[in-house]
Amino acid sequence: MKFGDAVFNAFGPQNEHHHAKMRSGAPALAWVEENMKRELQSDGGIGWQLYAAADEGVISETEAEQLLKAVFGAGFDTTIFGISGMLRAFADNPEQWQLLRARPDLVESAFEEALRLYPPSRFGGRVALRDTELGGITIPAGTKLLLMWLGAGRDPRKWTDPDQFRIDRHDAGSHLSFGFGIHTCAGQAVARLEAKSLLSALVDRVERIELTGEPRRAINFQAFGHESIPIRLVPAG
Ligand code: HEM
Repeated sequence: MKFGDAVFNAFGPQNEHHHAKMRSGAPALAWVEENMKRELQSDGGIGWQLYAAADEGVISETEAEQLLKAVFGAGFDTTIFGISGMLRAFADNPEQWQLLRARPDLVESAFEEALRLYPPSRFGGRVALRDTELGGITIPAGTKLLLMWLGAGRDPRKWTDPDQFRIDRHDAGSHLSFGFGIHTCAGQAVARLEAKSLLSALVDRVERIELTGEPRRAINFQAFGHESIPIRLVPAG
């Protein structure tokens, strides 16, 4: 969490909040810096493959290290926020948990629906390569764009009852919470696998998911999630 706090709070003004998060995240940042080194990568792993690409001259050594840090940074708090947001959504909507218990085939769409409602990444950036007309607005070439994944997930022109958590939406997976196009999330299969594994394990074993206190939102310039969601898992009898 402290690592992600530092990484994602770098997407904003360099104010006291930013500096505080960089200070508290410093040990985690140092750990990551140390552990992204070539000699510490496991054979055949992502890090190993990136350094192998550097050996082949496809990318430079520095790029391999930077890319490895990017994969690490992008995959940490995003999954924490995505999975915890999903548990909160179930605690807030107990009938949806009962629906999942009755229909475990909805496990995958439940995670998609949670990501639509609580996208761990608020926004992404793009630059228009050419003059573009979008929604009646002309975007001149060279314009920097901030794409709001969070707003897109609640757009009433696209979603019926956008603030409702409904795991049986037929189009749950068409959210933009993993971005889109050539830079769409490179780790989405990993994220989906993590969520599916957890939900599949819980669905038979847990009767109810209950809040035991008030959830607290994380204050973060880019990531959207919770600092704490106190919940109780009530075992199935
Ligand atoms: C629920 C979990 C996750 C969410 C919601 C998420 C979301 C995103 C989003 C919105 C983007 C930007 C896409 C765009 O600009 O179109 C992105 C990029 C990326 N993500 Fe994820 N992510 C998650 C998990 C992961 C994991 C587990 C990994 C790595 C194992 C990962 C690695 C990356 C990388 C490397 C990029 C940059 C891709 C590029 O620029 O080409 N993400 N992610």
